[in-house]
Amino acid sequence: MVNGQGKNTIIRMFNVSKRYGKMEALSNLSLEVRKNEFIFVTGPSGAGKSTMIKLLYMGETASSGSILVDGMNLARISRKQIPMLRRKFGVVFQDFKLISTKTVFQNVALVLEVAGLKPKEIYPLVMDVLECVGIEDRSEEFPPVLSGGEKQRVAIARAMVGTPKIVLADEPTGSLDPDSAAQIFQLLRSVHERGATVIIATHDQQMINNHDGRVVRLVKGRMDCEN
Ligand SMILES: Nc1ncnc2c1ncn2[C@@H]1O[C@H](COP(=O)(O)OP(=O)(O)O)[C@@H](O)[C@H]1O
Ligand SMILES: [Mg+2]
Repeated sequence: MVNGQGKNTIIRMFNVSKRYGKMEALSNLSLEVRKNEFIFVTGPSGAGKSTMIKLLYMGETASSGSILVDGMNLARISRKQIPMLRRKFGVVFQDFKLISTKTVFQNVALVLEVAGLKPKEIYPLVMDVLECVGIEDRSEEFPPVLSGGEKQRVAIARAMVGTPKIVLADEPTGSLDPDSAAQIFQLLRSVHERGATVIIATHDQQMINNHDGRVVRLVKGRMDCEN
């Protein structure tokens, strides 16, 4: 055990609660995630799915309980260590969150620029992930001209490019038509096959039924059944 985590555990949440004022978005949530697991977090709107995702990459901080990510205790890390924590994650959102004034290539390259890589190193890595998601021929275009499915492919390329240990996706197919949604799920599968731990928050029951993976169900901020 290192810092309370088993060798194959990458995330451990213990008794985690998150309150927004009087509203308890998550209540005493405990969850252990093994390296390279593929997990769906599901449950109705307002169940706490997005909150759980945000707590992991420290988009929000827990009100109580402990969260360990790849050996880092989120309650104890300093401000300076937050970038190190964030580099462990690639995150995909329902509304893509691409920068509309940067090209597809630049959106993805930014991750590596921030990490301090040189342009010569950045180019092949970005082209590799753009090819992987099948959007390399649009690399010089700007996000507003792309379809929703294409934008989400760029977002997945951006999430993959730093080869993060964990990929989080919050309703990644929530704004897409069924065909594009199926493609995006396939890509998240391939991210998993490349070795990442993948956690997908979704209320799309059909997607869950059609794919293997552990299912964590939240209802009103609590785990609904044994997980
Ligand atoms: N920033 C916030 N301020 C106040 N309440 C919030 C905030 N974010 C989420 N909530 C509330 O917390 C609960 C869980 O929200 P959320 O995690 O977004 O659920 P889900 O993603 O499952 O729909 C909801 O009742 C929501 O209104
Ligand atoms: Mg949500």
